[in-house]
Amino acid sequence: MKITTKINLLTTAWMLCILIIINFVVYFLFMQTTVNMEEDMQYQKAGDILKDIDGKQTSNEIEETFRDHLTEHSYIRIMGPNDKMMYQVTNDKVLAHKIKGNFTIKKQAKTHIISTEHGEEQILIVHVPMKNDNQSLEIGERLVGLEARKETLRAIMIMCIILAAVLSLLGGRWLASTIMRPISNMIKTMEEIETSGVPKTIPIENKAKDELQTMAQTFNRMINRILENLTKQSQFVSDASHELKTPLTVIKSYANLLRRHGIENKEIAEEAIQAIHSEATRIQKMTETFLDIANLEKENVLEMIQVNLVTLCQNILKQLKDVYKREITLQYDHDPIIISADELKIKQVIIILLDNAIKYSNGKIQVLIEQTDHHAIIKLKDKGIGIPEDEIDQIFERFYRVDKSRSRETGGSGLGLHIAKSIMKLHKGEIKISSKEGAGTEAVLIFHR
Ligand SMILES: Nc1ncnc2c1ncn2[C@@H]1O[C@H](COP(=O)(O)OP(=O)(O)O)[C@@H](O)[C@H]1O
Ligand SMILES: [Mg+2]
Repeated sequence: MKITTKINLLTTAWMLCILIIINFVVYFLFMQTTVNMEEDMQYQKAGDILKDIDGKQTSNEIEETFRDHLTEHSYIRIMGPNDKMMYQVTNDKVLAHKIKGNFTIKKQAKTHIISTEHGEEQILIVHVPMKNDNQSLEIGERLVGLEARKETLRAIMIMCIILAAVLSLLGGRWLASTIMRPISNMIKTMEEIETSGVPKTIPIENKAKDELQTMAQTFNRMINRILENLTKQSQFVSDASHELKTPLTVIKSYANLLRRHGIENKEIAEEAIQAIHSEATRIQKMTETFLDIANLEKENVLEMIQVNLVTLCQNILKQLKDVYKREITLQYDHDPIIISADELKIKQVIIILLDNAIKYSNGKIQVLIEQTDHHAIIKLKDKGIGIPEDEIDQIFERFYRVDKSRSRETGGSGLGLHIAKSIMKLHKGEIKISSKEGAGTEAVLIFHR
């Protein structure tokens, strides 16, 4: 069964239940109050009659008074002890015959249900004791009006229930389809995505801030992210192929040179082999970097441990100083300075930054480690060529290099800072670079503790 039908039927059923209960209550309250009202009227009448017959002795006189007070379908009688009927006046013989009189010394009213040729009927009987303790006045009357009103009320109520059911079914259908429209749209879009294989967003029509709207928006955000990633990926593939093209062209042209001039020309051969080797190494390094980037895009790649930044930097500096023979100083205000991080990845970030400092400067390089209440900060300063102000924002982009022509001699690929930023992002940390052209560059890593 469709969910819309289910909602519709359930709401209708529930509404009918409520309606039926309310109708029952209304019906019984109506009957109760009407009978009470009739009862009050009868007592009133009985009081009047008692006043009128006061002092009248002859049966003629009394019956005359009774007749004056007689309403339709009723009787008025006086009962004596042992249920002996003293006087009676009636305009409904059948009724008077059916209801036996009752002597009582209490004021009391009751309703009888008797069956008649038309079905069932209610009779209201009131008893009022008379001054003379041996007699009581009894008035009986068919509640004809009540019967008629009861019928009408019942008919109205049944009509109301039927009307409510129809309206509820129609309204329910409309309501369910309104509620379900965004879901139907979503299903349609999903089916389209499934068949075409192309992610697309759901058109959002109304601007109501409900759960379905939120659901559609979340779906759209998810799709937009997928689309973004897809473009990023294809951009990366084309950038990467472009980067690989240059060394491959170099390798190919040297290979051609070797083929044409042969191995006889020893000088050329040596140059060619040298170039091919260095370009192949470049390609190898580059592909390693690509793999690094691919791994960083996956989530949960970090292996978090407690890392002492001071020891980590000391070790890195020792290694680099041995290789590059450069002056690199290390200062720190505390030891240890502990953060929780993926040690290898943080090491990679520091090496990327130091590598840049070494490549783009000649003088002394400074590394400072600081600690505040909530942060650990590493600063790397060089006095090198610096970065032009208008390019600082771009240096974190993939393959971005300030001086494209220099990359050959410095061996950069423009991926270092991009990787560093991705790693810092995974650590929920920050990387900032400030620089003055010709004066030097400062890179700052901020870790939250
Ligand atoms: N310390 C620095 N001094 C001067 N320029 C820098 C420095 N660090 C980065 N850059 C500039 O930012 C560019 C991007 O850096 P990076 O992503 O590490 O790529 P690369 O592989 O070229 O080192 C570099 O090509 C360089 O132009
Ligand atoms: Mg670099």
